[in-house]
Amino acid sequence: MKVLVTGGLGYIGSHTCVALLEAGHTVVIVDNLSNSKIDTLNKVMQITKKNIPFYKVDVTDVLAVNSIFSKHDLDAVIHFAGFKAVGESVEKPIEYYHNNVVSTLIIAEACRKYNVHRFVFSSSATVYGDNKVPFVETMDLLPTTNPYGETKAINERILIDIAKANPAISLSILRYFNPAGAHKSGLIGESPVGIPNNIMPYISQVANGKLEKLRVFGNDYNTVDGTGVRDYIHVIDLAAGHVAALENLNEGIHIYNLGTGQGVSVLELVKAFEDANNIKIPIEIVERRPGDLASCYADVSKAKQELGWEAKYDIVAMCHDSWNFEKNRF
Ligand code: NAD
Ligand code: UFG
Repeated sequence: MKVLVTGGLGYIGSHTCVALLEAGHTVVIVDNLSNSKIDTLNKVMQITKKNIPFYKVDVTDVLAVNSIFSKHDLDAVIHFAGFKAVGESVEKPIEYYHNNVVSTLIIAEACRKYNVHRFVFSSSATVYGDNKVPFVETMDLLPTTNPYGETKAINERILIDIAKANPAISLSILRYFNPAGAHKSGLIGESPVGIPNNIMPYISQVANGKLEKLRVFGNDYNTVDGTGVRDYIHVIDLAAGHVAALENLNEGIHIYNLGTGQGVSVLELVKAFEDANNIKIPIEIVERRPGDLASCYADVSKAKQELGWEAKYDIVAMCHDSWNFEKNRF
């Protein structure tokens, strides 16, 4: 298939482009480089030894998006492009709603105009809100505590309505849990701008001495050791999940959790990182972070049953590969 990948130079998008190309598909990447670097394109081409058409375009720009659709005979779109920093979304709700929701409408309109009927959307476990774990796809979406989470829930509703109105559409909504790790080559991975919000890049920067210690946000949750529990998934597994979703995509609306189904606490993650890389990570227990859930992990049976996909890598592999990428960056 020929796949338009929006946000294809970002963390998950770049790994998914590698997986798509390795599975024999072709990709066209569009990214405005607001949270990525052009160098990632060279790295993806280096890994796959393939040439990739790239457009430095903002996907909220209707004319530029239509021009890309008119140049390529596309079979599918995977829409990753968007802003993703939870804290920033509270300070900049207009920018978040504009970028994340308008982009989806514009891509969906272009799909209608150019008869592209396969659409894969990056959603998030955040849409489950305060539901009871493990999260199952059939659960009602609960209000999230920030505009970023709301943009994911709104996008899901918009895309479902669009798919309901046109039976020819094949829609796959993928709810990611917590991506971690990097490509084995160490060439691509997660490179957040400024001080990382997410725990794995934060720990990696403690490991290389850029940051002094990890602040553990609360140890009084009702979890195995009091710290927050998450379902970390290797970005390589996540990328493979997109290929499986695309290759098994039929008409209608399909929603899948992409996680491992395993909950890992913050202290367990720190220990796994230390064991995998033989590096001590200093920690300090601090107050809970506002808006955090105690536990968030997936029921992954639907993706296994319908897509034949399941995660292969464990938390130790994620810690090893995250550090392998981080140490190569400096
Ligand atoms: P990322 O920031 O690394 O990648 C997003 C890419 O989209 C970046 O390269 C950025 O430059 C580009 N982009 C943003 N707005 C754009 C626009 N208007 N036009 C063109 N390009 C634009 O993020 P990621 O971690 O790879 O996440 C990809 C998707 O998955 C996002 O939609 C994100 O919300 C979602 N998601 C991420 C996580 C996570 O923890 N990383 C979890 C759940 C869902
Ligand atoms: N944590 C710390 N210290 C830190 C950073 C995080 O203790 O410096 C803890 C958090 O309290 C939480 C866990 O580590 O218990 C994971 O936190 P992250 O910030 O890495 O990830 P979140 O689960 O908060 O959110 C992430 C993405 C969201 C996405 C969600 C999906 O940031 O966009 O996963 O599950 F929606």
